Amino acid sequence: MTRPEIRIHNLHKSFGGNHVLRGIDLEIGHGEVVCVIGPSGSGKSTLLRCVNLLEEPTGGQVFVGGTELTDPDVDIDAARRRIGMVFQQFNLFPHLSVTENLTLPQRRVLGREKATAARIAAENLARVGLSEKADARPSSLSGGQQQRVAIARALAMGPEVMLFDEPTSALDPELVGDVLAVMRGLAREGMTMMVVTHEMSFAREVADRVVFMDGGVIIEDGAPDRVIGDPQHERTRHFLSRLLDPAMAGVEEKPPGRVGTSER
Ligand SMILES: Nc1ncnc2c1ncn2[C@@H]1O[C@H](COP(=O)(O)OP(=O)(O)OP(=O)(O)O)[C@@H](O)[C@H]1O
Ligand SMILES: [Mg+2]
Repeated sequence: MTRPEIRIHNLHKSFGGNHVLRGIDLEIGHGEVVCVIGPSGSGKSTLLRCVNLLEEPTGGQVFVGGTELTDPDVDIDAARRRIGMVFQQFNLFPHLSVTENLTLPQRRVLGREKATAARIAAENLARVGLSEKADARPSSLSGGQQQRVAIARALAMGPEVMLFDEPTSALDPELVGDVLAVMRGLAREGMTMMVVTHEMSFAREVADRVVFMDGGVIIEDGAPDRVIGDPQHERTRHFLSRLLDPAMAGVEEKPPGRVGTSER
């Protein structure tokens, strides 16, 4: 691995009595793309949210680019600026144009001049293929276009790492491809990325590593071909089989004799 860009050491997170993250150790190298997969409730979003301190960890350490975010003396706003985050919901301001959605945080958070912010907004809209929508309102865009605007907004802040939490889950199937293409381009440019996703073909093609989480721990961590193609743990196999064929969910719980009995 190249130098670690994200380093997570023995991370724990509880919500009241609910111990959600139970000792996560994970390193992500500079320019590496890591996809995180796992069942609902396994703690994937909580893990991402702990990496940029949207949630405060209960224990353990998180480092981004050598800075310990969990150090009580850290300048958390400065540290957070190094991390871009994209959610399932795009959270664009409906009353602002696409360009204004990109310039506002640059000016408010980074104190950039109007002209500089506008230039950087234009560069990043081009990067996601939406230059022609610069003056449009978000409501006039498709979900996939809105998500690409949200990615451009994060990129305009000049992050060193990008975190994605199921960026395509809210999209109609025909709009998923354009968003994944933008993410594929970012990966090719060498962006360090941590991506929670159910898109197994994307994970196989783009990820350097796939991490399978269940019950707040990492069960498997390895090359996509191994974790998805040849999982070593029963829990991973079970998860993947349900994902590939949701109709199979719970089949093994049916009483013997029911499955496969023919009506002929
Ligand atoms: N802000 C919160 N307050 C209380 N409990 C929370 C909070 N956020 C998450 N949890 C709990 O933490 C557990 C893990 O949730 P998390 O959202 O991280 O799972 P996930 O793996 O992202 O699931 P999904 O695939 O459904 O998005 C769940 O039991 C959830 O109820
Ligand atoms: Mg989640």
